Amino acid sequence: MTVPTLSGRGPARVAGRPSLGAQLLRRKPIAQMVTEAGDAQDGPRLVRSFGVLQLTMISVGATLGTGILVILGESVPLAGPAIWISFAIAGLAALLSAVSYAEMAGMVPVSGSSYSYTYATMGEGMAWICGWCLVLEYAVSVAAVAVGAGQYVNEALAVFGTALPDALSQPPGDGGMVNVPAMVIVLLATALLVRGAKESAWINTSIVVVKVGILLFFCAVAFTAFTAGNFEPLLPMGAAGVSAAASRVFFSYIGFDAASTAGEEARNPKKDLPRAIMLSMLIVTTIYVLVAVAAIGARPWGWFDGTEAALVKILEETTGQPWIGLVFAVGAVLAIASIVLTVLYGQTRILLSMARDGLIPAVFGRVSRRTGTPVVGTLLVGTAVALTAGLIPLGALADATSIGTLFAFGLVNVAVIYLRRSRPDLERTFRVPLFPITPILGAIMCGYLMANLGADTWVVFALWMLVGIAAYFSYGRRHSKVAAMSSADYLEVSAARPAPQHS
Ligand code: ALA
Repeated sequence: MTVPTLSGRGPARVAGRPSLGAQLLRRKPIAQMVTEAGDAQDGPRLVRSFGVLQLTMISVGATLGTGILVILGESVPLAGPAIWISFAIAGLAALLSAVSYAEMAGMVPVSGSSYSYTYATMGEGMAWICGWCLVLEYAVSVAAVAVGAGQYVNEALAVFGTALPDALSQPPGDGGMVNVPAMVIVLLATALLVRGAKESAWINTSIVVVKVGILLFFCAVAFTAFTAGNFEPLLPMGAAGVSAAASRVFFSYIGFDAASTAGEEARNPKKDLPRAIMLSMLIVTTIYVLVAVAAIGARPWGWFDGTEAALVKILEETTGQPWIGLVFAVGAVLAIASIVLTVLYGQTRILLSMARDGLIPAVFGRVSRRTGTPVVGTLLVGTAVALTAGLIPLGALADATSIGTLFAFGLVNVAVIYLRRSRPDLERTFRVPLFPITPILGAIMCGYLMANLGADTWVVFALWMLVGIAAYFSYGRRHSKVAAMSSADYLEVSAARPAPQHS
């Protein structure tokens, strides 16, 4: 039996039906991934337009938002004044994983994020599980984030006496029928992404500037009301409280890896992706710790219990000017909307990679000649996310996001260790410092934060994984394009195709 090769360079022989173990462990050659993204593919391709600044903005845009604007206030009662330590712990887990991401992004510079990395290193079975978890990290978190933005929109409308009734601003589980503002935000972002990545990135950069600006403005105002006594006692809820809060605020760091999904649209992915990932982590962690210290310095920790939109209230009370709170709220809507934009972008690119590999239907991988974007895939994902955002409550969405992300991050840390040993020959433009301590610590931190999440979150995660495994066995395993490559093809593409460099 003969089938076309992925590179379209002639038929390859498939020798019998592989065992289940061989199917799960079959790996995709890194050179093949780069080839598909580069010169050998027929038809329209993604346009390489992003430099390090835009890539950093994609990551910051995907990261900085609901976590610091909403979850900070909700987590203070868990940890007390030590909430900034919880942010530092969660930031350490994210930073260690970011370092591993940076090494992988410099080595596998294509769209697909940790899904692509695990496919190249740990085989199809783990890659599928990773991609499936990334749907929790991306699509489900977009829905969660959009619900948060919708609430801010409604609060801003309320200032002018035009707030939507619960029936149109809450999902069925929260006393309403449908969350219209959340759906509208997702659909607007979908429309922007369909038009083209470059314009979307420009808009995203502007919004990132606004949200960093409002958070720095918050710090400047809150520090004028700073009371050192608010930090005593530092650990009223003990170390366990700090750990529980660390797991909760981990949500704030989700998204730094978004730049890694833009590998095929980066001008020089091997150099710029690692730089952008590290830079965005440094920016975001610094801002989070600053905001947490400023907030606790301004108000005793007990004040946060039951206080909604805590940052806005601190601003209003400190300045005595309600309009300052309104300006902040509008900035917050923009901040959260930019996350919807960038994370939705990331999801479409991961699905594009998975479709290209045959693990999900090909429709997600088709790039339009006119726009240079995966139009149909973007519309399908946007519609599904809009419905999820409109109908499911925020809490359930946010918890599911964290556990899936931590699992995917843990896998990337393991992949770095595995690949250093199995493929020491591969070119690495960025190497994890203090190897293997850094990725081992990264994997342990991810497991530790997962362990701190609630039993109900674990049940949702288990169900999600079961559905994913069923989907793989009923579709992906049979349609995998890597399965169509003989081992001779593997060796050929691995040896012959260096990564293209674009300047
Ligand atoms: N990190 C993102 C946020 O905080 C998900 O909104």
